[in-house]
Amino acid sequence: MVSQSAQILVMQKKIIKDRGSVYLGQDGWDQLAKIIRELNPSKIFILTDLHTQELCLPYFLSHFNGEYAFEFLTLLPGERYKNIAACTEAWGQLSIKGADRNSLMINLGGGVVTDLGGFVACTYQRGMEFINIPTSLLSMVDAAVGGKNGVDLGTLKNQIGIIKNPHSVLIDTHFLTTLPDAEFKSGMAEMIKHGLIHSEAYLERVVQIDKTQSDMLEGLIWDSICIKNEVITEDPFEKGLRKTLNYGHTLGHAIESYCLEADRRTLLHGEAIAIGMILANYISYEMFSFPEKTLQRVTKFICQHYAKESFSEHEIEEIIKLLIFDKKNSHGSIQFVLLEDIGKHKLNCTVPNDLIHRAFNFYRDFQF
Ligand code: GLY
Repeated sequence: MVSQSAQILVMQKKIIKDRGSVYLGQDGWDQLAKIIRELNPSKIFILTDLHTQELCLPYFLSHFNGEYAFEFLTLLPGERYKNIAACTEAWGQLSIKGADRNSLMINLGGGVVTDLGGFVACTYQRGMEFINIPTSLLSMVDAAVGGKNGVDLGTLKNQIGIIKNPHSVLIDTHFLTTLPDAEFKSGMAEMIKHGLIHSEAYLERVVQIDKTQSDMLEGLIWDSICIKNEVITEDPFEKGLRKTLNYGHTLGHAIESYCLEADRRTLLHGEAIAIGMILANYISYEMFSFPEKTLQRVTKFICQHYAKESFSEHEIEEIIKLLIFDKKNSHGSIQFVLLEDIGKHKLNCTVPNDLIHRAFNFYRDFQF
């Protein structure tokens, strides 16, 4: 039996907005049923990839008792398929299956599904309604929340897209029970980022994460969403503050793209971002006296939890060349987000290449 205080706590865990409301747990499923009734869509499309079709769709369907004649769209899994060809396929399927502007798309999956599904929904017949149900940690704490929808251009990350909040987001940590450990760690990187850009207390809780403690995990996920929500509410279109959500992503995205195109292990998004954050912390330490204690602590945590990658001087040069495609760039200049301290950001920073090399050297030589 759930105690009254626990019930109140769960009831409090919702973020209500015109668009982009976020709901948690059973209350979220009740809200979803209500939203579907109110929207009264002409058809409901469930977008999954092959993994979430197998592992998550049955649990989703168990909440509906055959009430709706859902239509299903399935993507090939993985970042490699987050491209315009997959969108063309999905648009075609929507058209064949009779979707119209009053149809609803429910994106049930990780970051690729919610990013791509949101983009497909926003653009089909100039926009149909969509709801995100993230099933990976990364998608729960980041991708599914905040309205960034899009696809990659070749190996360049998220170059094509649109910012529009989903109607709603439903978070249910039950989906994480089937998530592979590497994917869990990939999501954890975005939680570390939320700690770095927001609060030492939250960062401390993340570095002590124990995923077997479901209450602890749910609390951390919710607080991550609240940190992100605070930022995107103030700056939905990334004119300033939202750039802080890209902490570690300037080099992280370049590393991710480089590994996708080079003949080496493809990194999960969070694995690349974890390295990007070590580099950003080091650059912040040299340029803005970011505390050495935090630099060491976060580097140790990341090196303990993520496989160490080595990059040759030539590869570092290739990664630096890719910085030109970062979406924060303006007027041809590459702009980093850096930190003076936890929660104290510096936007639009220019970083000399030799400092980037020193940051890679710091990562390479770090002993833990
Ligand atoms: N993932 C960064 C953002 O949503 O702005």
